[in-house]
Amino acid sequence: MDILIIGSGGREHALAIGFSESDSVNNLHVAPGNVGTSKIAQNHNIDVLKTQEILSLASELNVDLVVIGPEGPLVEGVADHLISSGIPCFGPTLKWANLEGSKKFAKEIMEEIGIPTANYEQLSEISENHEILNKFNPPWVIKRDVLAGGKGVTVTQSKKIAISAINNAIESDGRVLVEEYLEGEEASILVIMDESDYICLPPSQDHKRLKDGDEGPNTGGMGAYAPAPVVTSSILRRVEEEIVQPMHSYLKSQKEFPYRGCLYVGIMIDNEGAPRVVEFNVRFGDPETQVTVPLISSDIGELFLSAATGNLSNVNVDFHNYSSATVVLASKNYPSKPIIGDKIYGNDVSIEEGEIRAFIHYAGTAINDKGNYVSAGGRVLSATGIAPTLTEAVEAAYQIINNIELKDSQHRSDIGFRAFERRM
Ligand code: AMP
Ligand code: GLY
Repeated sequence: MDILIIGSGGREHALAIGFSESDSVNNLHVAPGNVGTSKIAQNHNIDVLKTQEILSLASELNVDLVVIGPEGPLVEGVADHLISSGIPCFGPTLKWANLEGSKKFAKEIMEEIGIPTANYEQLSEISENHEILNKFNPPWVIKRDVLAGGKGVTVTQSKKIAISAINNAIESDGRVLVEEYLEGEEASILVIMDESDYICLPPSQDHKRLKDGDEGPNTGGMGAYAPAPVVTSSILRRVEEEIVQPMHSYLKSQKEFPYRGCLYVGIMIDNEGAPRVVEFNVRFGDPETQVTVPLISSDIGELFLSAATGNLSNVNVDFHNYSSATVVLASKNYPSKPIIGDKIYGNDVSIEEGEIRAFIHYAGTAINDKGNYVSAGGRVLSATGIAPTLTEAVEAAYQIINNIELKDSQHRSDIGFRAFERRM
């Protein structure tokens, strides 16, 4: 089959590598793609938020499957249009894209079917003294009800900051959610789903804060690893029974609107092992994909096409008995105002030593007119290690990252620390 991937991050590079190793894939296209995807696929420079550009490209290339990486095009309804044109799409239609596009829509469904999540209230009146803040204990969690590119959540101990976050959100969006703070450890479960079945991929853990020890501002994700030992087999069973199965049954019951794609279940696990949903996303996570896709040993072309055509129950999926870790290299001043355009050195390397492998997933990297690699985004690239143990995977990833030079770049030096702490 021929596949078109939409997106330009490390996630899309990881998907492209997976498809390029798949026996069932002939021609691979990525739009717009990045430096990494240009080496294994054909890049096409389009505006992914213009549905018509995606439709025209998919028809022109006559692809058998379109895989949507980021949420933006899904919330624009690109899946609905592709399906109407007879092109299978991995990624849900607009109705379900709202599970990510509107926190309130997701909360209402969770309430209706009894999925465990934080209590919340919606506010729509500006005030200098929101009573609700006396009802929930600090830290307060304020969530905008729109797609905010990872910047829609404020978690704060300060009443002043909470009130201003609430009022700012109401002013720009007309409403806001205030949510109970959930204590515990976070994990991500990527679930490939269609109306016939679902498959939980190995659980992973992202590192959302910029600095070591989970300090500093929230980011898109500074690194990840899988499988995450915090999700023990009994917790994974609870996630399936209490979250994934009810969600799958609910989505399946809406017969005219099949959910075909990945449901990203972000959970908080409390100290008794109870999982609660922090968020649903309607796509693969970034950087979770970089550590999850390499662990799939089955043909991912066949897997994705099956989900996109409602045939997931006909495929079996196997996984490598390996661990993986990815360490993100970010530009100076990421996440607020990344400085771009600086040269990158030492990135053209990979490791292959017995069963240990490590290589680069590109994201915001470009090649300038002199042929040099330069930074071109907030998250520039990540180094990913895959090995029999997590320790070896992390070491291999750092062996690459520590050799890369990019002026004033930032990376965390503690990726995987929660897994290592559990062993002590
Ligand atoms: P979200 O965009 O909903 O994933 O939120 C971004 C981050 O804020 C999450 O990954 C959590 O670290 C944190 N967060 C969101 N909601 C809560 C909550 N109810 N309790 C504790 N932390 C939260
Ligand atoms: N890594 C978090 C996300 O993809 O939303």
